[in-house]
Amino acid sequence: MTNKNLSPETITAQASKPDPATGAVMPPVHFSTTFARDENYQPLNPKHVYIRDQNPTFETAEQLIQTLEGGYDALLFSSGMTAAMTVAHALKPGDHIVVPEIMYWALRNWLDKFCATWGVHLSKIDLANPATNAANIKAALEPQAKNPDCTQILWLETPANPMWDIVDLTEACTIAHQFNAIVCADSTVSSPVITRPIEHGVDIVMHSATKYLNGHSDVIAGVLISKEDSGLWKRICKIRSENGAILGAFEAWLLQRGLRTLFLRVKRASESALFIAEHFENHPQIDRVLYPGLASHPGHSIACQQMQNGFGGMLSICVKGGAEAALRAIGRMQVFVRATSLGGVESLVEHRPSIEGPTSPLPPELIRISIGIEDPKDLIADLEQALAG
Ligand SMILES: Cc1ncc(COP(=O)(O)O)c(C=O)c1O
Repeated sequence: MTNKNLSPETITAQASKPDPATGAVMPPVHFSTTFARDENYQPLNPKHVYIRDQNPTFETAEQLIQTLEGGYDALLFSSGMTAAMTVAHALKPGDHIVVPEIMYWALRNWLDKFCATWGVHLSKIDLANPATNAANIKAALEPQAKNPDCTQILWLETPANPMWDIVDLTEACTIAHQFNAIVCADSTVSSPVITRPIEHGVDIVMHSATKYLNGHSDVIAGVLISKEDSGLWKRICKIRSENGAILGAFEAWLLQRGLRTLFLRVKRASESALFIAEHFENHPQIDRVLYPGLASHPGHSIACQQMQNGFGGMLSICVKGGAEAALRAIGRMQVFVRATSLGGVESLVEHRPSIEGPTSPLPPELIRISIGIEDPKDLIADLEQALAG
């Protein structure tokens, strides 16, 4: 049986073949920073010369993620931020990046500074309303569409932190490609279990592998997956190898180990998140529950088309009583861990408006929740007692 006949779950559980040298079922960790050459001065393995270019320990995770996303190639990075920053660094002054107004906060802040100093034009557009998203994308990309000196990138995040706005990837890619733009999608929150952006036309997929891909809150990593061998992709590969934005060997090994349970973890978190979102939707202490799996979410019908195996493990609740009530409830939680990040096996709770500060566009009463793999009844009981206080 070839890999083509196997389901992604089987491929993921058996991500590497037994090591032919030792029979070891799990792959070895390669700590070597350099790789030997033969008597004719040719590398013994043409892929491996020096650690900054490539490390054999990356390959299990890179090949698996590339397969799961249906891409041409995948590259690991030292963090999700580095992966995203490498895309921006591959642009030249005068190029143009279009991003959503609501997206991962640290990246949005960095892009503000980077674009101002690097001379890249940055446009922020509203992508929270599926009825106007197409017009907003068109208006942002059209003016430079015929300028051969301007590479344009449309950066998407779906679901987008922390309102979980859903962008119709097929629609966005069709419009962007009409205007010669490259589409990059931060798919961290979905993971390839739920959405495969390349199937919808996305050119480069990005993940903070720190989240669901690793899944155990013990590795920081990022990954880019390219649909094809493009000029932009070649520049990205070169930048990674030149600046050494790579993982340590042990982190890469931990990542391939975490990946093996990806489907179990994401399906369980998604099932529990839906159960919890439905439970709290009409709760007397809650104004609104933001979760793409609820019919009340503005992106629900698109989510039903482009998400499978559930709607993900991330949801937000807006409590009655403003920031003070939100912080009081968070302070009373006993099962949820008060910490930033998402996508681990343990459930986390966060007051994003406090983290983002006074310039945050978020409602002050918003509580962001990352659902883990615990018994959802314990999570509901914890939220109930915290809200009752
Ligand atoms: C959606 C999203 N993208 C990117 C990042 C950045 O990833 P990292 O923390 O691995 O640099 C994060 C981190 O929280 C994130 O949530």
